[in-house]
Amino acid sequence: MPKPIKKAIFPVGGLGTRFLPATKSMPKEMLTVVDKPLIHYAFDQARAAGIEEFIFVTGRNKSAIEDYFDCAYELEETLKARDKKELLARATEWVPPAGSIVYTRQMEPLGLGHAVWCARHIIGDEPFAVLLADELFLSERPLLQEMAEIYAEKGGNVLGVADVAREHTSNYGIIDPESDNGKIIKIKGMVEKPHPSKAPSNISITGQYILQPEIFGHLDEAVKRGHGKAEIQLTNAIAAMLKTIPTHGVRFTGRRYDCGSRSGFLQANIAFALEVPEMRADALAMMRRFLSDNDDEAM
Ligand code: UTP
Repeated sequence: MPKPIKKAIFPVGGLGTRFLPATKSMPKEMLTVVDKPLIHYAFDQARAAGIEEFIFVTGRNKSAIEDYFDCAYELEETLKARDKKELLARATEWVPPAGSIVYTRQMEPLGLGHAVWCARHIIGDEPFAVLLADELFLSERPLLQEMAEIYAEKGGNVLGVADVAREHTSNYGIIDPESDNGKIIKIKGMVEKPHPSKAPSNISITGQYILQPEIFGHLDEAVKRGHGKAEIQLTNAIAAMLKTIPTHGVRFTGRRYDCGSRSGFLQANIAFALEVPEMRADALAMMRRFLSDNDDEAM
């Protein structure tokens, strides 16, 4: 039985240039969908999958993330004094116990592979999860929880994957499947952002991974080759392990929103607002109004 996954890396060191000017002074991962920052959704997924140690790979301008996962002494005391139990719970009840969060800095945003490599000494010799905050998932069960179950059966590397329209393959890492039973896909190859005519499938890698520590050897080599200049891709390091480590994809069939882009972020806000019972009727009425006000373009 493979070793259970207890540690997760949250790479939050990117510049988030697609959200400038907002990301000039605040982390992209703190952008809010309805009433929670993106990073909170990723954190919830990790918790649901049994993660106990949360490793954030941060950069400059990211201290709002540290404050978010800390006590907010003044706020808590004020809410207590005013007997606002529900608000107090919303602000604090999910904060993990002291000592379960670790922060390290990427120093230079040299890509996702580099961000993961920065956590190598904290992870040590154990399998671990990676969760990107800018992919939001709406489904009955958290994707990482399903991935952890399949990992317990198969071991190796396990990637969350999802079908995309063929014309969009150049936005994603795309896998080359060896076998596919609908839910679990054995992976024999992967390429980063292929042109639709060159893509080996239309199955994309999502922002959730379970990885073996052997990946750090491959990332080490890539970091040495890059001389601190080139972006280090996580996909390439996973691809380099395919011959030695069995790698499976777990197909996500719920709704997925790319919150790294402005339109994906807008869609996520609408979709998540519709999931909140006390917001649903208002949100629908608002959308009907927008549609009728913009009738000529909406059709
Ligand atoms: P993106 O590819 O969306 O890059 O990163 P970005 O810099 O955040 O955003 P844009 O493209 O400039 O708008 C995907 C995830 O990987 C992290 C990001 O913080 C984000 O959560 N990342 C990316 C790092 O941690 N370090 C990096 O060097 C690059």
